[in-house]
Amino acid sequence: MMCAPASVPKILLLGKNGQVGWELQRALAPLGTVIALDRHSSEHRGDLSDLAALRTTIARLAPHVIVNAAAYTAVDKAEAEAALADGINHQAVAVMAEEAAKLGALLVHYSTDYVFNGSGSTPWVETDAPAPLSVYGITKLAGEQAIIASGCAHLIFRTSWVYAARGANFAKTMLCLAVEREQLNVINDQIGAPTGAELIADISAHALRATLNNAHLAGVYHLAALGETSWHGYAEFVIAAARGQGIALKTTLINPIPTHQYPTPAARPHNSRLNTAKLHAAFGLTLPHWQAGVAPHETPSNPTQRHYPRRWQWHPLAPRDLGGEQAAHARIR
Ligand SMILES: NC(=O)c1ccc[n+]([C@@H]2O[C@H](COP(=O)([O-])OP(=O)(O)OC[C@H]3O[C@@H](n4cnc5c(N)ncnc54)[C@H](OP(=O)(O)O)[C@@H]3O)[C@@H](O)[C@H]2O)c1
Repeated sequence: MMCAPASVPKILLLGKNGQVGWELQRALAPLGTVIALDRHSSEHRGDLSDLAALRTTIARLAPHVIVNAAAYTAVDKAEAEAALADGINHQAVAVMAEEAAKLGALLVHYSTDYVFNGSGSTPWVETDAPAPLSVYGITKLAGEQAIIASGCAHLIFRTSWVYAARGANFAKTMLCLAVEREQLNVINDQIGAPTGAELIADISAHALRATLNNAHLAGVYHLAALGETSWHGYAEFVIAAARGQGIALKTTLINPIPTHQYPTPAARPHNSRLNTAKLHAAFGLTLPHWQAGVAPHETPSNPTQRHYPRRWQWHPLAPRDLGGEQAAHARIR
């Protein structure tokens, strides 16, 4: 049973420096008192790999709302680090859920299209049976299941292909490569919707507020921008938009390639389409098309002079550097 929030809810935000976490700091601020932690926070520990410390943090702070934006998102690396990924994406989430249940707090959590196996071409609805293909997907699904089993009030948002102004991601990497390379090979048989962290944070804040006022809104929701594209279509769009703004790019050919020509340690779903009708209906929201968010973010006036970490201005193939879930989907020629 969710407790009625105080007039000013206390909101504990975990993972404050990730793509979504960073935007949540802004979006949650008007809703209450936000205590934002990351893995290095010391007064209150926010390291999800230390389950005892995490439990103590939540019990001491006794928040009305816990928002978990932290996750182990290195999809390929997770294949070799299953225990670590499970600790962060599942066991730590189970601790949050248990503590939320004890406190009567609302737990807001993020999951992924990678809980599905990617078959077919119909957008997935919340009630479709999950069947993850990767360690990452398995651990994210286990996190969802732990929340539901705990009985705590929750909002679980499954999203896809996240990008943000802050942090590394596919679109920024494509722009960097396009400055340097004449040809790019990009996967064209994985279909989904690039979704901005800003949008995710704004929708989360709206839904959180609505759910504090109406506990029946709690549940699992798909949260992704409208429309669909492939990684290849996404790359073409970003590069064309940049060129349209007068940015000089070397790339003249963006070749579509099938996934099997670009093997990665973790298998990824071909069909990452998420049906967002439930979110629209429950919260009275209209989500924008994916192109609306991507263009202004990813076409800075000069991509070679952005204030991005130097390492991924040139290093295209390290999965973590490419932005968490979005491991290498492009091969350089
Ligand atoms: N990125 C995507 O394309 C995508 C797609 C679908 C769903 N999602 C889900 O959306 C949510 C937000 O993803 P995102 O893109 O914002 O991910 P992100 O940018 O990779 O951020 C994840 C954050 O979690 C933190 N973290 C990792 N291990 C931690 C630990 N042991 N203790 C505390 N914090 C830890 C990271 O901290 P450090 O910076 O210190 O490592 C980072 O700030 C996640 O639940 C993810 O599974 C993401």
